[in-house]
Amino acid sequence: MSFSTLLQNLQTIVGPTHVLIESADNDLVQYVRDWRGRERGVALAVVRPNSTEQVAAIVKACAASNKAGSGVSIVPQGGNTGMVVGSTPDASGTQIVLSLQRMNQVRKLDAGNGTITLDAGCVLQNVRQVCFDAGFLYPMSLGSQGSCMVGGNLSTNAGGTQVVRFGNTRELCLGLEVVTAQGEIWSGLSGLRKDNTGYDLRDLFIGAEGTLGIITGATMKMYPLPAAKLIAFAALPSLDAAVSLLQLAQKHLSAGLTGFEVMGQFALSLVGKHFPQQRVPFLGMSDAPYCVVLENSDQESEAHAKAQFERLLEEAMEAGHVLDAVVAENMTQAKQLWHIRESIPLAQAQEGLNIKHDISIPVSSIPEFVRVTDAKLAEAFPGARLVNYGHLGDGNLHYNLQAPEGADQAVFLETQEPGVNELVFDMVMQFQGSISAEHGIGSLKVGKLPHYKSPVAMELMRTIKRALDPQNIMNPGRVIEV
Ligand code: FAD
Ligand code: MLT
Ligand code: ZN
Repeated sequence: MSFSTLLQNLQTIVGPTHVLIESADNDLVQYVRDWRGRERGVALAVVRPNSTEQVAAIVKACAASNKAGSGVSIVPQGGNTGMVVGSTPDASGTQIVLSLQRMNQVRKLDAGNGTITLDAGCVLQNVRQVCFDAGFLYPMSLGSQGSCMVGGNLSTNAGGTQVVRFGNTRELCLGLEVVTAQGEIWSGLSGLRKDNTGYDLRDLFIGAEGTLGIITGATMKMYPLPAAKLIAFAALPSLDAAVSLLQLAQKHLSAGLTGFEVMGQFALSLVGKHFPQQRVPFLGMSDAPYCVVLENSDQESEAHAKAQFERLLEEAMEAGHVLDAVVAENMTQAKQLWHIRESIPLAQAQEGLNIKHDISIPVSSIPEFVRVTDAKLAEAFPGARLVNYGHLGDGNLHYNLQAPEGADQAVFLETQEPGVNELVFDMVMQFQGSISAEHGIGSLKVGKLPHYKSPVAMELMRTIKRALDPQNIMNPGRVIEV
């Protein structure tokens, strides 16, 4: 089957206006370039279905075309905010981008069951708002929440800033609806909290980055809204102090600790430089190389939350873990403090192309890891600037690198990235960590995975991929090569 026959079939399924083809008047950049601007691919077409049945029909049409020798494959796409070049087509011109953006309806909010069932193309921020309006908290919170979608969150098993209390996206999901690589619909949208009826199919598709099927719907957990939420921004003498403060916060606040983020001074200086309207507390404070944002969500009252927070900060200051701290006095201030943390990736992007490492290490080993790896990087790549921040409460650091001041960033990336990655990932392994904590593998790390995962694990993953997608039509070249 030729590409033109396939495109005609796709037009019949979704309507001609929803099969987008790149042309001089139709720039598809938003679908074909990754968020970090590292790669721009070429799409055979961008197809935008508005129902699960249409998704199934598209997959069937592509599978038939692929079987007939066209070589077409499918790249599922949500908000295209992923960090590892997984949601954009390669340069071959043989991939269709299947965008979920028109599938954006809430199907059911079940207050009694504490669940919301929705289309995979619902934008995270809208989901949070719908739940809030119904008196619930949807605890997933990412800097990209204005664009990223629930299907993308599930497919990357995204983390974010509330994992310390509510877990990754996987922990929030009770049921899925999936279109398989054969174009069959698996309806697994149960809101059950217990279901031991064989292999957990849901968990196979979560974190699969679109390589096993297309998530079209999901049933997710909601939580009660807290009675009060307090945010503190604290200046710390070291990363060791941050780990000690985390332990203290867990002791004082228990389940009330809903966020614990760390930020190095250089990361904060990029926010100050590129977003000068934001007032960053303790910016450049010489004896405070790190700051943290702490969030205390209280089910009792604001007074209770304040008393708890005061005791925690007092004890932390007495022990020397905290040098100084500000506590937001209202929601506007609280949002401003969170905004500083969430602006770091945007400020880093403004500064230029960069090397990202989204790593996890046992929390207790993080200070030593950073000490040793900082020193090795300084020796091997003099002048490289370290942008260090992340979800310390989850042992997840964004241990990133920016080219030396004044250097050509593209040249630095091209010539130094492999060496930088090898150094950092080898250190991560020495500290029993993971080379991808929350962003996934995509095409950026696909070549690295076999080096850092056991042969047995790799073969099990290949077996699953071959069984579920024997034609290798779903996002080939991402996560695992077969
Ligand atoms: P996309 O980028 O469109 O896709 C991501 C992957 O999932 C691709 O492999 C794609 O093929 C696949 N996919 C998408 N939708 C489907 C579907 N319906 N079915 C099957 N496969 C699908 N991530 C974190 O984990 N934590 C953070 O704190 C965080 N903060 C961020 C802050 C900023 C400013 C930005 C830009 C990104 C951040 N991210 C973070 C990364 C990103 O937002 C998340 O990975 C998010 O979950 C991606 O969702 P998306 O809808 O944009 O997915
Ligand atoms: C974050 O925590 O801000 C995100 O994972 C994005 C990033 O690190 O760039
Ligand atoms: Zn992150």
